Amino acid sequence: MTRTIKLSDGKVIPAIGWGNGTGGLFGNHDPAVENGIAALKAGIYHIDTAECYKTEEATAEAIKQAGVKREDIWVTTKSLSGIEKIRSNVQQRIKNLGFKPDLLLLHFPTVPKEGSTSEFWTNFEDLVYDGTLEGVSLGVSNFRPQDLEAILKVARIKPVVNQLEYHPYVLEHIQPVLDIGEKHNIVTESFGLLTPVLRHPTGGPLKPVLEKVAARLSKDTGKEIDTVTVLTLWTIQKGVVAVTSSRNPANLKKFKEIDDLPDLKPEEVKEIEQVGRQVHFRHYKSHMSKDFPDPNLPEDL
Ligand SMILES: NC(=O)c1ccc[n+]([C@@H]2O[C@H](COP(=O)([O-])OP(=O)(O)OC[C@H]3O[C@@H](n4cnc5c(N)ncnc54)[C@H](OP(=O)(O)O)[C@@H]3O)[C@@H](O)[C@H]2O)c1
Repeated sequence: MTRTIKLSDGKVIPAIGWGNGTGGLFGNHDPAVENGIAALKAGIYHIDTAECYKTEEATAEAIKQAGVKREDIWVTTKSLSGIEKIRSNVQQRIKNLGFKPDLLLLHFPTVPKEGSTSEFWTNFEDLVYDGTLEGVSLGVSNFRPQDLEAILKVARIKPVVNQLEYHPYVLEHIQPVLDIGEKHNIVTESFGLLTPVLRHPTGGPLKPVLEKVAARLSKDTGKEIDTVTVLTLWTIQKGVVAVTSSRNPANLKKFKEIDDLPDLKPEEVKEIEQVGRQVHFRHYKSHMSKDFPDPNLPEDL
């Protein structure tokens, strides 16, 4: 079985994605090919790439060399285009991949000129209507409430996803983004989801909670379940696509095994969220707090 999430345009996306934009793969063709093959061979049939990662060709190459069918793999890429060059930029994405992606995102709301996100979106949509992006789902990334509102005012095609840093330690901050997403059926895609386990200096108040759930799940399944697995499962059970990464075959195998694990108990999902909301700790800062202030919460308890 593969855990999946349904998008508002009817397409079904594998709930776990493997990204080639971090872990030293950014701009590194050969490692991105080699590790992409490993992810596909582990059974993760969803690759997340982007114009700025310079790994679109490597994505196509990995699919070819892994001997899997292109149509069986979900491919997302992201554009960094300004408004003027959007057509040629999109054509370049398709050229680099050698096929149309399943999902194309505007990588940052700050790429079009200040205040021009809605104009960008109209031009993006035109490429669907003229056939250039026929069959391709459109989405956004790193959008704050004001960015979503700007495009939703004019959208003929609503974005199907918003990809942003998502984990329990940013929930309080991004709640207004999530509320708009829920209202307009925009699925959240998470990156940096393992931040509470891997990047928070102490693990914070979630550490004992995740360890407790991992121990319970290990006992019930007879498998060795770690806190990374628990956090990834929590993400998916929140209805959020988990875009993660790994260059380690053992960790890739663990991600794939999540497909066949039982769900966390509802009270475990709730406790992870409640404890996470006591802290604010963001790894990817960029523009996210600009005109969208961070909550007044400590980074640790
Ligand atoms: N839209 C955007 O602006 C944006 C921004 C950032 C990222 N992204 C996308 O999201 C992808 C993932 O981002 P991320 O790296 O921040 O994701 P993440 O899920 O927070 O972290 C991935 C890291 O987790 C480690 N890991 C995996 N399984 C593990 C385990 N069982 N135990 C210990 N460590 C484990 C991996 O290292 P090992 O290799 O050691 O397993 C990998 O370096 C990127 O590649 C990119 O495609 C998008």
